[in-house]
Amino acid sequence: MSAVTPTLTDLTIPVVGAPMAGGPSTDDLVAAVSGAGGLGFLATAYRPGTAVAQSITALRDRGVDRFGANVFVPDAPADHVVDRAALRAYRDALAPRAAALGVTVPEIPEYSTDAYDEVVAVLVEAAVPWVSFTFGLPSQSDVAALHDAGSAIVITVTDVDDARAAVDRGADVVWVQGPEAGGHRSTFSVDAEPPTTPLVDLLPAVRAAIDVEVIASGGVASGADVARLLALGADAVAVGTLLLNTPEAGTSGAHRRALADPAFAETVLTRAFSGRPARGLDNAFHRDLHELAPATFPELNTLTGPLRTAAAVQGDPDGVTLWAGTGVAAVTDDPAATVVERLWAQARELG
Ligand SMILES: Cc1cc2nc3c(=O)[nH]c(=O)nc-3n(C[C@H](O)[C@H](O)[C@H](O)COP(=O)(O)O)c2cc1C
Repeated sequence: MSAVTPTLTDLTIPVVGAPMAGGPSTDDLVAAVSGAGGLGFLATAYRPGTAVAQSITALRDRGVDRFGANVFVPDAPADHVVDRAALRAYRDALAPRAAALGVTVPEIPEYSTDAYDEVVAVLVEAAVPWVSFTFGLPSQSDVAALHDAGSAIVITVTDVDDARAAVDRGADVVWVQGPEAGGHRSTFSVDAEPPTTPLVDLLPAVRAAIDVEVIASGGVASGADVARLLALGADAVAVGTLLLNTPEAGTSGAHRRALADPAFAETVLTRAFSGRPARGLDNAFHRDLHELAPATFPELNTLTGPLRTAAAVQGDPDGVTLWAGTGVAAVTDDPAATVVERLWAQARELG
């Protein structure tokens, strides 16, 4: 196995395709972003280790060697607090919606970190070049195993203190996620309210506090945004939302249509779908349930799962997650390579 840790200076284009769990991040999307000269990321959350291993093999079989994989860090079992009464009340609140969709709300699941351990073992075994962690710090032993395999460790943070903690834990790259970002905020505890410091202020503050490579993400809508973030000290800039409607993404039909629909233009931060704060387009599910949602992850995510799946089958944008960042108005259905190359061409003209 390689012992040479990759660096972001290896990229032809300093643009990262953000990991997007729940469907959007397909092997094709990762291959397209990396093929264009950027860095594509697999999302492993909610996927078994066997499926992740298959994606890694499939990417390598088609000649993609430069890519990353992202995992959601679970709470240590001893630290995992579940307010079962609040979850039961949320179950009751979901019941009429579930009945209308013809599904049942699942029982509150048992907590386990087995799936995470299994996926990390797959990533170590496969020596994935960049491994990124969201929602917390990986264990020292996982960091050591990945470093031995030659992986660069990436840790996603939302404030300066977490950036310092990430470097202390062995991060080779700190991924700074601003409040503009689509999808889940990478706060290190489930019940924390995510910081609101704009990315353009957070990034230089993090840059001044640490001395490793930095990826910046959140609300990027244009090459001008890329140029600005690079000038503020990012080594690479990540985009998620801008890739959601590319043909390579696995985004659901309801999500795709909402992204292109001016009626869904506003983004909100909501716990209604998963129990963790995440930014998405405002819809009825959020409006009806956000106030009732306890800060509990991943149990709450499991409770809403069958409702989200049924609404997706019906193509109902008011019943599915519509994760999107504040740059949503710039979404196009161009191929992912075109999106990445265009961002970089515009950024270079300005830079
Ligand atoms: C649909 C969607 C799914 C996401 N899933 C993940 C994920 O699995 N892991 C992760 O670290 N971040 C996830 N994110 C956040 C992205 O990594 C990134 O921080 C964000 O997309 C950047 O903001 P932007 O969407 O405004 O470009 C997701 C974002 C979106 C839009």
